[in-house]
Formats: sequence, C-alpha cells, structure tokens
Amino acid sequence: MNILEKLKQRRTHKVIGDLNDAVGASELDCSTIDEMLAACANAPFHYACDRSHKTDMPSVVPWRVYKLKAQDCNKLADFLIEAGDTTKVPNMLTAADYMLQVTWLPDEATIINKAAGKDEEAFKGTIRNMEHIAAASAFIQSLLLAGEEKDLMTYWSSGGALRSDTVFEYLSIPQNQMLLGAVFLFSKQVSHSQIKQGAMRDARGRVEDWSKWCELS
Ligand SMILES: Cc1cc2nc3c(=O)[nH]c(=O)nc-3n(C[C@H](O)[C@H](O)[C@H](O)COP(=O)(O)O)c2cc1C
Repeated sequence: MNILEKLKQRRTHKVIGDLNDAVGASELDCSTIDEMLAACANAPFHYACDRSHKTDMPSVVPWRVYKLKAQDCNKLADFLIEAGDTTKVPNMLTAADYMLQVTWLPDEATIINKAAGKDEEAFKGTIRNMEHIAAASAFIQSLLLAGEEKDLMTYWSSGGALRSDTVFEYLSIPQNQMLLGAVFLFSKQVSHSQIKQGAMRDARGRVEDWSKWCELS
C-alpha cells in the first residue's frame, strides 16, 4: 500500500478493555517497537532541545518516549485505579499491547506551571516552543502511521491522569517535560464491541473546506 493510502487508512481506535481480563504479553516483539521508533526519528525538527533536558537522555531532539509493555500497562492501570481514577484510561491500559508516553521538551526558562489545567498557562508561547511541539507532533503522527504499517490499532490521547506529576514520578519521567501524547497500540485481535472511534472522525469536511489556492496576478 502506498503512503497516501496509509494516510487515508489511519484512524483512531480506542479499545476499552475489561479490567478483570487483562491482556497478556504482546505477540509483537519490543524490537519491532524500537524499529518503528527508529524510522519515526526521521520526523523533521528545527531547534535542538534545551540543554537542561539532555541530562536524562542525551539527544537534541525535542521529544522523549517512555515505553510500556503490556504487563507494565497493567501495573500502571492498577496504580491509577488505586489512586481513584474512574475514567476509561485504566481500561485502555488493560487492553493495550504497548503504551508510549511521548513528551515534548519546553525551553526551561519558559515553563510557567507544568501542572496547569486546560485553560491556564503552562508555558510561554514562544515560537521556539511552538516548533518543539510541531516537531514532536510530526513524530507522533509518524508513530501512528508506523502502527498502521505493523497492523496495529492506534490511539493518540491527551492522557488524562497520565499527564499528572504522580504518573510522571511513577514512570521516572522528568517533571520539566510535558506530555504531548499517550500513544496506545492495540492488537486487532479484540472484540469489535470494545472498540470506540474518534469523536471528530467525520468532521473534517472536504479539502476545499480548509484549503485554497493563492492565485497571484
Ligand atoms: C493532540 C491530540 C490529542 C488527542 N487527545 C484525545 C483524547 O484525549 N481523547 C480522545 O478521545 N481523542 C483524542 N485525540 C484523537 C481525536 O479524537 C481523533 O483524532 C479525532 O476524533 C479524529 O478521529 P480519527 O483520528 O479517527 O480521524 C487526540 C488527538 C490529538 C491530535
């Protein structure tokens, strides 16, 4: 299948697992995940990350990835349930083959309040930060397409409780990073009744609803 077909094929699929029926270890090897990540690392990026982020992992890219296998997804689900989480995040962790926490790396001096809620300022909206997020987003979209290529169902989530300082601490993610996406990878061997689609799936409109040619005289 060519890349245009892959782009059209990609869709959000959330698998709402049964908390009492945890999925076992994935049939997909960890090395396949690393092979996917190595390809996705070719996502474009403009600026090197702030020096402060290189103490944990040394790369200049403005994203980091924290990888959880199925058994660790289950442990994280238990951790969230014990902390009182009543959302569907634990259910999805229970169903996931892998979950990848993808963070972006704000310039250190621009962090205002990392724990800010939806409508508060978490970081300064500098152009550099915009481009860090853009690069990390390109990385995540590549990851979703890599998932399609490996015949997985994928879901890019804002994360809910997975954004929290307590989860960052549990997973040893430095607190000066920001979650851009909790990326769930699911096997297709699940019952259809457990699968939910993205809410905005059919809302995009046609190409002419969001693009126009600039024809100059
Ligand atoms: C940055 C970002 C965050 C998202 N967070 C969520 C989320 O928290 N919950 C959710 O249901 N979908 C989330 N989505 C997925 C969208 O719901 C989904 O892409 C949209 O409904 C369109 O569906 P499609 O991907 O199947 O075309 C997110 C997508 C992006 C790009």
